[in-house]
Amino acid sequence: MSQTPLKLAIIVGSIREGRFGPTVAKWFTGQAAQREDLTVDVVDLAETPLPTVFPAFGQPPGEEVERQLAAVSPRLAAADAFVIVTPEYNHSFPASLKNAIDWHNKEWHAKPVGFVSYGGVSGGLRAVEQLRVVLAELHAVTIRDTVSFHNSWGDFGVDGTHRDGEGCEAAAKTMLDQLTWWAHALRDAKAARPYAA
Ligand SMILES: Cc1cc2nc3c(=O)[nH]c(=O)nc-3n(C[C@H](O)[C@H](O)[C@H](O)COP(=O)(O)O)c2cc1C
Repeated sequence: MSQTPLKLAIIVGSIREGRFGPTVAKWFTGQAAQREDLTVDVVDLAETPLPTVFPAFGQPPGEEVERQLAAVSPRLAAADAFVIVTPEYNHSFPASLKNAIDWHNKEWHAKPVGFVSYGGVSGGLRAVEQLRVVLAELHAVTIRDTVSFHNSWGDFGVDGTHRDGEGCEAAAKTMLDQLTWWAHALRDAKAARPYAA
């Protein structure tokens, strides 16, 4: 088994002006960064916007689209594992996130995806359940345990801590333990034999 630290891409899914996503992502990145078995790359979709118009089948993307993709695609390709930080929008996940998912295909193959969600009473869990369906189509493996924040808008301090520190940290550890188990297993398996998509 390779002992090289796993590359984790944390995807910040919301791009709304005044969004809460970076607060949640900052807290989670702090949790992930404490682990010696991970290196972390935060892919914030608001900082690396992707076009919403796709080329025709079989046609290469134009130059400007290539430039925009270049800020995201190689980072997804390099990742051994993903954590998606998502809010709930109308019982699902934001269009910005679906767009980023749809621009890619092999970048998701045979890789594990964990979730950190937030929203109202549901804590974004309905968004997570919908993401599981989409990601299965892309040959990704979604992680059972999640971290979810329910009506948590006032619960984070300016220093990035959460007022229920221990509970959230335990949830993050459980999710990351499962994610890294899968990431190691899949990385080793792919090194032995290419994934047959
Ligand atoms: C278009 C839209 C739809 C929303 N729909 C839901 C919803 O169905 N359920 C829920 O719990 N919260 C819903 N919310 C509240 C968001 O989950 C909450 O405002 C969250 O902070 C949004 O993430 P953001 O601030 O990173 O954009 C919605 C917010 C928006 C903007």
